[in-house]
Amino acid sequence: MEDRKTIYLCLAHMSEDGVEQKYVKEAFDTNWVVPLGPNVNAFEQDLERFVNHNGSEHKVVALSAGTAAVHLALKACGVGQGDEVCVQSFTFCASSHPITYLGATPVFIDSERETWNMDPDLLEKAILDRKMKTGRYPKAIVPVALYGMPYRIDRIMEIADRYGIPVIEDAAEGFGSRFDGRVLGTFGRFGVLSFNGNKMITTSGGGALVCEDGESKNHIMWLATQARDAYPYYQHSGIGYNYRMSNICAGIGRGQMTVAQAHIDHHKHVQALYEELLKDVKGVTIHKQPGDSRYDSNFWLCTATLDPALHVIGQENAYKEVIKTAVGGAAGVIHAVESPTTDCQPNENVEALRVYMLQKRVECRPVWKPMHKQPVYKDAPAYINGVSEEIFKVGICLPAGPMVTDDDVRYIVDCIKKAIMA
Ligand SMILES: Cc1ncc(COP(=O)(O)O)c(C=O)c1O
Repeated sequence: MEDRKTIYLCLAHMSEDGVEQKYVKEAFDTNWVVPLGPNVNAFEQDLERFVNHNGSEHKVVALSAGTAAVHLALKACGVGQGDEVCVQSFTFCASSHPITYLGATPVFIDSERETWNMDPDLLEKAILDRKMKTGRYPKAIVPVALYGMPYRIDRIMEIADRYGIPVIEDAAEGFGSRFDGRVLGTFGRFGVLSFNGNKMITTSGGGALVCEDGESKNHIMWLATQARDAYPYYQHSGIGYNYRMSNICAGIGRGQMTVAQAHIDHHKHVQALYEELLKDVKGVTIHKQPGDSRYDSNFWLCTATLDPALHVIGQENAYKEVIKTAVGGAAGVIHAVESPTTDCQPNENVEALRVYMLQKRVECRPVWKPMHKQPVYKDAPAYINGVSEEIFKVGICLPAGPMVTDDDVRYIVDCIKKAIMA
């Protein structure tokens, strides 16, 4: 190992003046140590100002996680037992798992090459085919802003409106990304945000749901607080959840809102530097946003693809050993496996680059494995064009975020160059 501090994929970064701690202290001092309170209300107002920058009147509910936001949005769209929901296959599992919590079935939609996000043509094909096969339209559509990149929301909305299907934007990774000047999360019926420790801003763990109006917000609040009816005792006419954000976490969120734009600017700066430094490195292609000026990605993570013909130091040893430790992103949990390989995995040169970079104290990760290739979803319907599987095999995530300095990016690119054998 090099004698250097590790450069992580994306780390939480508090404001310079520590204002997060001020709000957290206030919560303690006033004994608002509960999942409601002044910080929660103020954080929601901050978020509303942020998403309504263009004069829209969206409302926001702060929740315990982005996953909870997906779950409640689906529930509010009426998704239930036996229903189907069209969801982008190329994503983190939190976009699709809540569909199954409700007894519904995900219908996976593959990606378009330009954005890596939901392919609108395949979406429409899937909607029509599901109608033909089941007699019913899917209950909701969930596009995902992968690594912050905006989806083709103009086309997705047009298709959704044609068939009267609500859209739940999974903008968990796309906080502050815009399409045509409007922030993601404000186009569909609901918009999902995440404030997990690795996201654009953090509340340690947390999320939010962007709602179209006050009525929708009230309904989500009701569902998020155990769906209690207005009696002096505990009366329930519906099933609810305990999903409200803690007033402690919201204090962190309020502080983070003071640096949100600086974070977004920094992510974009890091992306621009990668683009510049990697432009002449043969076989390594940084994933850029489409030339169409309507796209404005936050570049939550910077991603690149490796030419399968590229030889990376150590690739002969890729996937030789069964992993016995916790893997990145698994929060220390070890779920033992018996084989070092699966039937769909990143190419050996990609795995070798990940290992090489780790030795140089740089954390890189594979891109999300498409959901339609996950064993748990082997029986789910999928409308596939091969794009997400192809990118999964060649893609790699590079460190980004406010903790990554220009010097770090230069070091990372130098390491990549050294890893590539001529
Ligand atoms: C695309 C996507 N959707 C949903 C989530 C869920 O958010 P959370 O981790 O806050 O539950 C995440 C991130 O973790 C994500 O990347």
